[in-house]
Amino acid sequence: MQNVVVVGQGYVGLPLAKGATQAGLRVTGLELNAQVVEQLNNGISHVDDLSDADIAAMNSQGFKASNDPSVIADADVVVICVPTPLGEAGSPDLNAVESAMRTIAQNISKKTAVILESTTYPGTTEELCLPILESAGKKLDEDFHLAFSPERIDPGNKIYGLKNTPKVVGGVTQESTKAAVDFYSQFVDTVVPAKGAKEAETAKLLENTYRHINIALVNEMSKFCHELNIDLWDVINAAKTKPFGFQAFYPGPGVGGHCIPIDPNYLSYQVRKSLGYPFRFVELAEEINNSMPRYVVDRVQAQLNNDQLALSGATVLILGVTYKPNIADQRESPATDVAKELVARGAVLQFHDPMVADWKVADASYERVGDLEAATANAEIVLLLQNHSSYDVEALAAKSKRFFDTRGASASASAERL
Ligand SMILES: NC(=O)c1ccc[n+]([C@@H]2O[C@H](COP(=O)([O-])OP(=O)(O)OC[C@H]3O[C@@H](n4cnc5c(N)ncnc54)[C@H](O)[C@@H]3O)[C@@H](O)[C@H]2O)c1
Repeated sequence: MQNVVVVGQGYVGLPLAKGATQAGLRVTGLELNAQVVEQLNNGISHVDDLSDADIAAMNSQGFKASNDPSVIADADVVVICVPTPLGEAGSPDLNAVESAMRTIAQNISKKTAVILESTTYPGTTEELCLPILESAGKKLDEDFHLAFSPERIDPGNKIYGLKNTPKVVGGVTQESTKAAVDFYSQFVDTVVPAKGAKEAETAKLLENTYRHINIALVNEMSKFCHELNIDLWDVINAAKTKPFGFQAFYPGPGVGGHCIPIDPNYLSYQVRKSLGYPFRFVELAEEINNSMPRYVVDRVQAQLNNDQLALSGATVLILGVTYKPNIADQRESPATDVAKELVARGAVLQFHDPMVADWKVADASYERVGDLEAATANAEIVLLLQNHSSYDVEALAAKSKRFFDTRGASASASAERL
């Protein structure tokens, strides 16, 4: 039975630890945050996709969380799932990857497959991770294997999870690729070997950039379709009946989470840094998607203006502040920028979200409205930013004085759509 250490027990690392544990592997979750370690060992989950019962089941199958790096000494496989945020000035911040890699270099004591899953720019595995492992006197394919395997987890997705989403794997050598393929094949249905680590790294960034650009395309269209009095939602529904060559993307108040607003920057940064020219599609997509929160507020203001009302002093009730429906994750949610802009223009802000009780926006903190129906009826305008499945959007729109739907969730005339 393989000993596996998963470094970083967040949205990516914890589902991976679950998959490997269920496959009968002996799994330890190495995590810096002591509170997370304690919670996990007490059967408490802190990510949307896993319940407390899932953690308790993992624990009963031998899973342990720890913040002691010496657990790496016994590992046959170490997988790194630590954050890769943007640093100041929008450049990649790989501090967590570097620090995890140094810890691994200092602690491996037998032939270990080291696999990076954190999203990063092409070349990281070979040019940043490999030298750290080698600087500890370890030899590639003798003392360790090294590979990259992009995480494709889609939080909240009930159909595709770790097991049935094909896993791309690229090693810095063929032997390393094989070691990583053998590991994932134990609990993932389809493992796809890429030519090498750089190809696997770039595949992940292509996937995310593709979404970023296509969302920007429909976001830009939403602006002129509104002015031309064309219903873009109807346009997309018509276009998507084409059985080939088209994939539907939908406009919205901006992009959130990690994969779309942040990851494509890793690619454009690397292209500019190493080649000296821009990756223009990414930069344009970013400009368009970042303009959406302000555009949404413009439309709210225009809707009030049509009724001779000012946004300044008006109560605006925001529905849904997370970046995706039916999850609690607020990272990079465009709702924050919408809220800041509304407040800057003098609106009185209220919010509701079934997944969020207290919402922090800059220095302010908002408490979820207690009575959703009453708040909907009282607000000058209700602004749907996230369509959680518990919302009866048509009923809320009918109850409101004015309703602005940025998700195309309402078909009724009582709501205005983006
Ligand atoms: N969340 C997603 O949907 C998603 C999807 C695909 C890819 N990714 C990528 O996966 C990576 C991890 O993302 P996430 O969403 O799981 O992040 P997260 O913030 O949910 O979890 C990361 C965890 O790693 C821990 N950590 C940080 N440094 C550590 C270290 N040196 N040793 C041990 N633990 C450490 C943190 O305390 C945290 O608990 C990122 O590169 C992200 O871009 C995320």
